[in-house]
Amino acid sequence: MTLIDGKLVSSAIKEEIKKEVAGILDSGKRAPHLVAIIVGEDPASMTYVSNKEKACHAVGITSSVYKMPVETTQDELLKVVDFMNRDADIDGIIVQLPLPASIDKNVIINAIDPKKDVDGFHPESVGKMVAGMDTFLPATPYGIVKLLEYYKIETEGKHCVIVGRSNIVGTPAAILLSRKAYPGNCTVTLCHSKTPNIKELCLSADIIIAAIGKPGFITADMVRKGVVVIDVGTNRVESTETKSGYALLGDVDFENVSKVAGYITPVPGGVGPMTITGLIQNTLKAYKQANI
Ligand code: GUN
Repeated sequence: MTLIDGKLVSSAIKEEIKKEVAGILDSGKRAPHLVAIIVGEDPASMTYVSNKEKACHAVGITSSVYKMPVETTQDELLKVVDFMNRDADIDGIIVQLPLPASIDKNVIINAIDPKKDVDGFHPESVGKMVAGMDTFLPATPYGIVKLLEYYKIETEGKHCVIVGRSNIVGTPAAILLSRKAYPGNCTVTLCHSKTPNIKELCLSADIIIAAIGKPGFITADMVRKGVVVIDVGTNRVESTETKSGYALLGDVDFENVSKVAGYITPVPGGVGPMTITGLIQNTLKAYKQANI
Protein backbone atom coordinates (compact mmCIF):
# COMPACT_ATOMS: atom_id res chain seq x y z
CA MET A 1 0.00 0.00 0.00
CA THR A 2 1.25 3.47 -0.86
CA LEU A 3 0.16 6.34 1.34
CA ILE A 4 -0.73 9.37 -0.77
CA ASP A 5 0.94 12.22 1.09
CA GLY A 6 -1.02 15.40 0.43
CA LYS A 7 1.24 17.43 2.68
CA LEU A 8 4.29 16.48 0.65
CA VAL A 9 2.66 17.21 -2.71
CA SER A 10 1.12 20.47 -1.53
CA SER A 11 4.50 21.60 -0.09
CA ALA A 12 6.14 20.94 -3.45
CA ILE A 13 3.47 22.95 -5.29
CA LYS A 14 3.55 25.75 -2.70
CA GLU A 15 7.34 26.02 -3.08
CA GLU A 16 6.84 26.71 -6.80
CA ILE A 17 4.12 29.27 -6.09
CA LYS A 18 6.31 30.98 -3.50
CA LYS A 19 9.12 31.38 -6.05
CA GLU A 20 6.71 32.79 -8.61
CA VAL A 21 5.23 35.27 -6.12
CA ALA A 22 8.74 36.32 -5.03
CA GLY A 23 9.52 37.03 -8.71
CA ILE A 24 6.40 39.19 -8.98
CA LEU A 25 7.39 41.17 -5.88
CA ASP A 26 10.97 41.54 -7.15
CA SER A 27 9.62 43.14 -10.31
CA GLY A 28 8.00 45.84 -8.16
CA LYS A 29 4.42 44.66 -8.52
CA ARG A 30 1.98 44.10 -5.68
CA ALA A 31 1.32 40.61 -4.30
CA PRO A 32 -1.76 38.60 -5.36
CA HIS A 33 -4.65 39.15 -2.93
CA LEU A 34 -7.31 36.67 -1.81
CA VAL A 35 -10.32 37.72 0.25
CA ALA A 36 -12.42 35.23 2.20
CA ILE A 37 -15.84 36.38 3.35
CA ILE A 38 -17.25 34.49 6.30
CA VAL A 39 -20.75 34.97 7.67
CA GLY A 40 -21.35 33.74 11.21
CA GLU A 41 -19.05 31.69 13.41
CA ASP A 42 -19.34 28.08 12.28
CA PRO A 43 -16.23 26.50 13.90
CA ALA A 44 -15.34 24.28 10.92
CA SER A 45 -15.61 27.28 8.55
CA MET A 46 -13.45 29.39 10.87
CA THR A 47 -10.78 26.69 10.88
CA TYR A 48 -10.87 26.42 7.07
CA VAL A 49 -10.56 30.15 6.65
CA SER A 50 -7.71 30.47 9.11
CA ASN A 51 -5.85 27.61 7.36
CA LYS A 52 -6.35 29.35 4.03
CA GLU A 53 -4.94 32.57 5.52
CA LYS A 54 -1.86 30.84 6.89
CA ALA A 55 -1.20 29.07 3.59
CA CYS A 56 -1.48 32.34 1.64
CA HIS A 57 0.95 34.11 3.95
CA ALA A 58 3.42 31.23 3.67
CA VAL A 59 3.71 31.77 -0.10
CA GLY A 60 3.61 35.59 -0.06
CA ILE A 61 -0.03 36.00 -1.14
CA THR A 62 -1.96 38.70 0.70
CA SER A 63 -4.97 37.24 2.47
CA SER A 64 -7.81 39.14 4.10
CA VAL A 65 -10.77 37.80 5.97
CA TYR A 66 -14.00 39.78 5.98
CA LYS A 67 -16.11 38.64 8.92
CA MET A 68 -19.83 39.35 8.96
CA PRO A 69 -22.30 38.56 11.73
CA VAL A 70 -24.72 35.65 11.46
CA GLU A 71 -27.67 38.11 11.13
CA THR A 72 -26.23 39.52 7.86
CA THR A 73 -28.90 39.78 5.17
CA GLN A 74 -28.53 38.61 1.58
CA ASP A 75 -28.57 42.22 0.36
CA GLU A 76 -25.83 43.24 2.77
CA LEU A 77 -23.67 40.35 1.61
CA LEU A 78 -24.37 41.17 -2.04
CA LYS A 79 -23.19 44.75 -1.42
CA VAL A 80 -19.90 43.50 0.05
CA VAL A 81 -19.36 41.12 -2.88
CA ASP A 82 -20.09 43.94 -5.32
CA PHE A 83 -17.62 46.23 -3.56
CA MET A 84 -14.92 43.56 -3.74
CA ASN A 85 -15.69 42.81 -7.38
CA ARG A 86 -14.85 46.43 -8.15
CA ASP A 87 -11.71 46.62 -6.02
CA ALA A 88 -8.79 46.28 -8.45
CA ASP A 89 -6.47 45.29 -5.58
CA ILE A 90 -8.44 42.09 -4.95
CA ASP A 91 -7.77 39.14 -7.29
CA GLY A 92 -9.76 36.32 -5.72
CA ILE A 93 -12.98 36.27 -3.69
CA ILE A 94 -14.37 33.31 -1.80
CA VAL A 95 -17.54 33.27 0.25
CA GLN A 96 -17.15 30.51 2.81
CA LEU A 97 -19.93 27.92 2.72
CA PRO A 98 -22.26 27.00 4.29
CA LEU A 99 -24.05 30.33 4.58
CA PRO A 100 -26.84 30.97 7.11
CA ALA A 101 -30.18 29.52 5.93
CA SER A 102 -31.62 33.01 5.29
CA ILE A 103 -29.12 33.58 2.46
CA ASP A 104 -29.43 31.83 -0.92
CA LYS A 105 -25.91 30.67 -1.71
CA ASN A 106 -26.65 30.52 -5.44
CA VAL A 107 -27.54 34.20 -5.52
CA ILE A 108 -24.25 35.04 -3.81
CA ILE A 109 -22.10 32.74 -5.96
CA ASN A 110 -23.72 34.19 -9.07
CA ALA A 111 -22.80 37.70 -7.93
CA ILE A 112 -19.05 37.02 -7.73
CA ASP A 113 -17.14 38.36 -10.74
CA PRO A 114 -16.17 35.19 -12.69
CA LYS A 115 -12.67 36.70 -13.14
CA LYS A 116 -12.28 36.54 -9.33
CA ASP A 117 -14.12 33.25 -8.81
CA VAL A 118 -11.17 31.31 -7.41
CA ASP A 119 -13.51 28.71 -5.85
CA GLY A 120 -14.71 27.84 -9.38
CA PHE A 121 -18.34 27.75 -8.19
CA HIS A 122 -19.79 30.44 -10.49
CA PRO A 123 -21.99 29.00 -13.28
CA GLU A 124 -19.61 30.50 -15.86
CA SER A 125 -16.65 28.63 -14.32
CA VAL A 126 -18.67 25.41 -14.03
CA GLY A 127 -19.84 25.71 -17.64
CA LYS A 128 -16.30 26.25 -18.88
CA MET A 129 -15.08 23.25 -16.90
CA VAL A 130 -17.79 21.05 -18.43
CA ALA A 131 -16.88 22.32 -21.90
CA GLY A 132 -13.18 21.59 -21.25
CA MET A 133 -12.24 25.28 -21.50
CA ASP A 134 -9.58 26.99 -19.41
CA THR A 135 -11.10 28.18 -16.13
CA PHE A 136 -10.78 28.08 -12.35
CA LEU A 137 -11.26 24.47 -11.29
CA PRO A 138 -12.88 23.95 -7.87
CA ALA A 139 -10.05 23.50 -5.38
CA THR A 140 -10.86 20.05 -3.96
CA PRO A 141 -11.38 18.13 -7.23
CA TYR A 142 -8.36 20.02 -8.61
CA GLY A 143 -6.35 18.77 -5.62
CA ILE A 144 -7.54 15.21 -6.19
CA VAL A 145 -6.46 15.31 -9.83
CA LYS A 146 -3.05 16.71 -8.81
CA LEU A 147 -2.54 13.86 -6.33
CA LEU A 148 -3.36 11.23 -8.97
CA GLU A 149 -0.93 12.97 -11.32
CA TYR A 150 1.89 13.26 -8.77
CA TYR A 151 1.70 9.54 -7.93
CA LYS A 152 1.40 8.69 -11.67
CA ILE A 153 -1.73 6.66 -10.98
CA GLU A 154 -3.20 5.19 -14.14
CA THR A 155 -6.72 6.45 -14.78
CA GLU A 156 -7.43 5.67 -18.45
CA GLY A 157 -10.19 3.08 -18.83
CA LYS A 158 -10.52 2.71 -15.06
CA HIS A 159 -13.80 2.60 -13.19
CA CYS A 160 -13.95 5.56 -10.80
CA VAL A 161 -16.74 5.43 -8.24
CA ILE A 162 -17.48 8.75 -6.56
CA VAL A 163 -19.62 8.66 -3.43
CA GLY A 164 -21.33 12.03 -2.89
CA ARG A 165 -22.66 14.44 -5.53
CA SER A 166 -22.02 17.86 -3.97
CA ASN A 167 -21.36 20.85 -6.21
CA ILE A 168 -18.08 21.38 -4.34
CA VAL A 169 -16.57 17.91 -4.75
CA GLY A 170 -18.50 14.94 -6.20
CA THR A 171 -20.08 16.51 -9.28
CA PRO A 172 -16.99 18.45 -10.48
CA ALA A 173 -14.76 15.42 -9.70
CA ALA A 174 -17.02 13.31 -11.94
CA ILE A 175 -16.54 15.81 -14.77
CA LEU A 176 -12.76 16.01 -14.37
CA LEU A 177 -12.21 12.25 -14.10
CA SER A 178 -14.26 11.57 -17.23
CA ARG A 179 -12.51 14.24 -19.32
CA LYS A 180 -10.45 13.21 -22.34
CA ALA A 181 -7.17 13.96 -20.54
CA TYR A 182 -4.76 12.67 -17.94
CA PRO A 183 -5.81 12.29 -15.17
CA GLY A 184 -9.15 11.39 -16.67
CA ASN A 185 -10.56 9.03 -19.29
CA CYS A 186 -12.24 7.11 -16.47
CA THR A 187 -15.67 5.54 -16.60
CA VAL A 188 -17.30 7.39 -13.74
CA THR A 189 -20.15 6.29 -11.49
CA LEU A 190 -21.52 9.08 -9.30
CA CYS A 191 -23.29 7.63 -6.25
CA HIS A 192 -25.59 9.59 -3.95
CA SER A 193 -28.18 9.17 -1.23
CA LYS A 194 -30.64 7.47 -3.59
CA THR A 195 -28.13 4.94 -5.00
CA PRO A 196 -29.29 1.53 -3.72
CA ASN A 197 -26.15 -0.53 -4.39
CA ILE A 198 -23.19 1.59 -3.31
CA LYS A 199 -21.32 -1.40 -1.89
CA GLU A 200 -21.63 -3.39 -5.11
CA LEU A 201 -20.50 -0.40 -7.19
CA CYS A 202 -17.53 0.25 -4.89
CA LEU A 203 -16.53 -3.40 -5.20
CA SER A 204 -16.20 -2.90 -8.96
CA ALA A 205 -14.16 0.32 -8.60
CA ASP A 206 -10.51 0.84 -9.49
CA ILE A 207 -10.64 4.30 -7.91
CA ILE A 208 -12.98 5.38 -5.10
CA ILE A 209 -13.49 9.02 -4.19
CA ALA A 210 -15.34 9.26 -0.88
CA ALA A 211 -17.02 12.65 -0.42
CA ILE A 212 -20.19 11.90 1.47
CA GLY A 213 -19.52 13.49 4.87
CA LYS A 214 -20.09 10.35 6.96
CA PRO A 215 -17.20 9.17 9.12
CA GLY A 216 -15.94 5.68 8.25
CA PHE A 217 -18.63 5.13 5.57
CA ILE A 218 -16.35 3.17 3.23
CA THR A 219 -15.45 -0.08 4.98
CA ALA A 220 -13.00 -2.84 4.02
CA ASP A 221 -15.77 -5.16 2.76
CA MET A 222 -16.72 -2.50 0.16
CA VAL A 223 -13.36 -2.38 -1.64
CA ARG A 224 -11.33 -4.76 -3.73
CA LYS A 225 -7.63 -5.40 -3.40
CA GLY A 226 -5.37 -2.77 -4.91
CA VAL A 227 -8.05 -0.05 -5.17
CA VAL A 228 -7.03 3.62 -5.14
CA VAL A 229 -8.91 5.39 -2.32
CA ILE A 230 -9.23 9.17 -2.14
CA ASP A 231 -10.85 10.27 1.11
CA VAL A 232 -12.33 13.76 1.01
CA GLY A 233 -14.12 13.45 4.36
CA THR A 234 -13.36 16.02 7.05
CA ASN A 235 -15.81 15.03 9.75
CA ARG A 236 -15.31 16.76 13.08
CA VAL A 237 -16.16 14.36 15.87
CA GLU A 238 -15.85 14.98 19.59
CA SER A 239 -12.75 13.45 21.12
CA THR A 240 -11.24 13.31 24.57
CA GLU A 241 -7.85 12.52 23.09
CA THR A 242 -7.13 15.88 21.46
CA LYS A 243 -6.47 19.31 22.96
CA SER A 244 -9.12 20.95 20.78
CA GLY A 245 -11.78 18.50 21.98
CA TYR A 246 -12.49 17.18 18.50
CA ALA A 247 -10.82 14.89 15.97
CA LEU A 248 -10.96 14.93 12.19
CA LEU A 249 -12.21 11.69 10.65
CA GLY A 250 -12.42 10.75 7.00
CA ASP A 251 -15.27 9.06 5.13
CA VAL A 252 -13.13 5.92 4.95
CA ASP A 253 -12.39 3.38 7.69
CA PHE A 254 -8.68 4.00 7.17
CA GLU A 255 -7.39 1.36 9.57
CA ASN A 256 -9.04 -1.52 7.73
CA VAL A 257 -9.35 -0.18 4.17
CA SER A 258 -5.61 0.66 4.11
CA LYS A 259 -4.88 -3.08 4.53
CA VAL A 260 -6.61 -3.79 1.20
CA ALA A 261 -5.98 -0.63 -0.85
CA GLY A 262 -3.14 -0.07 -3.32
CA TYR A 263 -3.07 3.67 -2.65
CA ILE A 264 -4.91 5.65 0.03
CA THR A 265 -5.04 9.23 1.32
CA PRO A 266 -4.94 9.76 5.10
CA VAL A 267 -7.18 12.21 7.00
CA PRO A 268 -5.78 14.63 7.94
CA GLY A 269 -2.84 15.10 5.56
CA GLY A 270 -4.36 13.83 2.31
CA VAL A 271 -6.81 15.84 0.23
CA GLY A 272 -7.14 18.68 2.80
CA PRO A 273 -3.76 20.37 2.20
CA MET A 274 -4.26 19.97 -1.56
CA THR A 275 -7.55 21.86 -1.45
CA ILE A 276 -5.88 24.93 -0.01
CA THR A 277 -3.09 24.65 -2.55
CA GLY A 278 -5.66 24.57 -5.36
CA LEU A 279 -7.20 27.76 -4.07
CA ILE A 280 -3.80 29.46 -3.93
CA GLN A 281 -3.02 28.32 -7.47
CA ASN A 282 -6.31 29.80 -8.63
CA THR A 283 -5.57 33.08 -6.86
CA LEU A 284 -2.23 33.35 -8.61
CA LYS A 285 -3.92 32.53 -11.94
CA ALA A 286 -6.55 35.26 -11.34
CA TYR A 287 -3.81 37.75 -10.47
CA LYS A 288 -1.83 36.95 -13.61
CA GLN A 289 -4.89 37.17 -15.84
CA ALA A 290 -5.73 40.61 -14.46
CA ASN A 291 -2.25 42.08 -14.05
CA ILE A 292 0.31 40.45 -16.34
N1 GUN B 1 -16.91 25.11 2.45
C1 GUN B 1 -16.34 23.88 2.39
N2 GUN B 1 -15.46 23.81 1.38
C2 GUN B 1 -15.47 25.02 0.77
C3 GUN B 1 -14.76 25.57 -0.34
O1 GUN B 1 -13.95 24.91 -1.00
N3 GUN B 1 -15.04 26.86 -0.62
C4 GUN B 1 -15.94 27.59 0.08
N4 GUN B 1 -16.15 28.85 -0.30
N5 GUN B 1 -16.61 27.12 1.10
C5 GUN B 1 -16.37 25.84 1.45
